[in-house]
Amino acid sequence: MDTMNDLTDYKITELESCGSTNDVIKRSISDNLKQFPLIVSSREQLKGRGRGNRGWFSPRGTGLYVSIGLLLESRETVQLLSLVSGLAVIKTLENLSHHNFRLKWPNDVLFQKKKIAGVLTENSFNGDKMVSVTGIGINLNMGQDDFPEGLREKATSLRIITGRSVNIKRVTPVLVDIFFKEIARLERGDTPGIVQSANRLSAYSSGDPVSVHLDEKKFFGIYRGINHDGGLILEKANGQRDTIYSGEIGF
Ligand code: BTN
Repeated sequence: MDTMNDLTDYKITELESCGSTNDVIKRSISDNLKQFPLIVSSREQLKGRGRGNRGWFSPRGTGLYVSIGLLLESRETVQLLSLVSGLAVIKTLENLSHHNFRLKWPNDVLFQKKKIAGVLTENSFNGDKMVSVTGIGINLNMGQDDFPEGLREKATSLRIITGRSVNIKRVTPVLVDIFFKEIARLERGDTPGIVQSANRLSAYSSGDPVSVHLDEKKFFGIYRGINHDGGLILEKANGQRDTIYSGEIGF
């Protein structure tokens, strides 16, 4: 994969507040292609967005909200890029604590079945270039009661897990560094290694019954792992296997 971005020389634009860091990058795409990679973080988001048109709980000072805009040469690696971002979040969290985190395909990060981080990847074309915006949200310093009612049972934070708060400003560059190192792995062609890591860290094991939600549709099947290009292998009742490239596994 050629990202056409200098991944060794970058700066992080730190905002006090914004609607959504993904939207800040998307708004500047037309005039800023030369300045990629673009990285924007914010202390809070007033309209934080999650996957599937959901919101992302983004209070000031307790979560990490960052978006990374990259220029890509080809479409094929989008699915792998999605895995890479989840893996980068796991490596970052494992650097900060000595706990084990799990990947819920394609890129949610769980701790003991509760969600600690999510990724919203939005891709578009600009001329012949593909622009990929990866938005990462990590629950760092929230207490359990800080989460709104509907989330309290399903979400967790690093502070809840370790009992300690972290300095969010220091975590952001660590995450970006790890993310770029994982991308370098993709550029070296180590896709088998990436897929192997994703399978090793998966929240599901082969044989688990799962449901996959895609728009209004729901598929049921047996989880059979992540394939060589990052798709989810789902075995149907008749034994036939399908590979799914978008959607999410239901809780
Ligand atoms: C999900 O799991 O639903 C994805 C959540 C993604 C949240 C991040 S926070 C930074 C970036 N800006 C947004 O509005 N969303 C992403």
